[in-house]
Amino acid sequence: MPSLLFVCLGNICRSPAADGIAQSIAKQRGLDWRIDSAGTGAWHVGKMPDDRMMAAAATRGIDLSSLRARQAESDDFLRFDHIFAMDAANLADLEQIRPAGATANLSMFLEQADVPDPYYGGADGFEHVLDLISGRMKTLFDRLQQD
Ligand code: 4NP
Repeated sequence: MPSLLFVCLGNICRSPAADGIAQSIAKQRGLDWRIDSAGTGAWHVGKMPDDRMMAAAATRGIDLSSLRARQAESDDFLRFDHIFAMDAANLADLEQIRPAGATANLSMFLEQADVPDPYYGGADGFEHVLDLISGRMKTLFDRLQQD
């Protein structure tokens, strides 16, 4: 039973969306997997996801309102099997806190590309992020279910 952690910068836009989408797919497929999200930064700790992301996700039937931002920590590398970075900067920041003896497998969520940060852009940026994450998440679950 794999455990998954999705990590972006603020844990209020991209990684909560990934968290909610993953939980929705897990529920549809009857999988009791541990799924969480975190940010490399601490600015938004304790906050709900960004209103724009909550609204965009809600139109797709994904409720993000119970999520609260937290900062990624070294122990996450011992508590999760897979840690997925939303962009290359997040990956580099996570490598800085990866402890000796880390058991988690750390990788980019999209294998060759960043999930673009929608925070300073318009509404279409949030839709684009949801499209990217939804598409990739199904493939990721297919692969993990085969392992
Ligand atoms: P996220 O987006 O990393 O997808 O949650 C951001 C949220 C907040 C900030 C940057 C990105 N910020 O600079 O406050």
